[in-house]
Amino acid sequence: MIPRLRLGVNIDHVATIRNARGGDHPDPVRAAQIVAACGGDGITAHLREDRRHIRDEDIARIQAATDLPLNFEMAATEEMLEFALRHMPHAACIVPERREERTTEGGLDAAGQHNRLAPIVARLSDAGIRVSLFIAPEERQIEAAMKLRAPVVELHTGEYAHAEGDQIAVELRRLADMAALAAKNGIEPHAGHGLTYENVQPVAAIPQLAELNIGHYLIGEAIFTGLEAAVLRMRELMDAAR
Ligand code: PXP
Repeated sequence: MIPRLRLGVNIDHVATIRNARGGDHPDPVRAAQIVAACGGDGITAHLREDRRHIRDEDIARIQAATDLPLNFEMAATEEMLEFALRHMPHAACIVPERREERTTEGGLDAAGQHNRLAPIVARLSDAGIRVSLFIAPEERQIEAAMKLRAPVVELHTGEYAHAEGDQIAVELRRLADMAALAAKNGIEPHAGHGLTYENVQPVAAIPQLAELNIGHYLIGEAIFTGLEAAVLRMRELMDAAR
């Protein structure tokens, strides 16, 4: 029996809609509470350098409002490191961040940035924050995560999500192989980016994966069905895949 796959819900885009009018509605904290009430396993939020969705004060408000573990997505900067150490989230997922991108478009180059990442990973880990690295499903990135002593990697599923035709199976194979390689080396593999009702099941079926983090699609579906129904449907699909 494959262990249950955790579902972390990324609530950034509730804040995107809120910020479109500059006020307080819709409140990402309310989204976090709904996710907690309907069986979500965690909340993911990305405080971007440009604060385009989640704002500084949202993080403490989310932490105060639910008992769910917070997966704090952050760029590898001194500013974000200090912020994480002040707020002590359950986990910190280090992501690449480019100001002009629409979303986190690729994985972190853990292999090429060892020296920059090492002190950040160490300071987060020393503080008791579980570090995750958001990487492409590539062997050299898993090896780099091992060298950095990251306990978790999140495999970027964007290439899989955007693949067409025969390429879908190729990308799925990469995800499965890299999840297995991470697990074999004592790293807990997670996955996320671009997952939908239509494409989640083959990923959810990868037995080593412990957690999926899903945002944009769920928040989009929530417009039509409500957030609770959207989370429950995703949960059902994930469970059925195992
Ligand atoms: N995981 C990480 C590390 C992310 O940065 C994001 C958002 O880009 C997601 C998961 C969720 O991706 P999506 O919003 O496409 O579901």
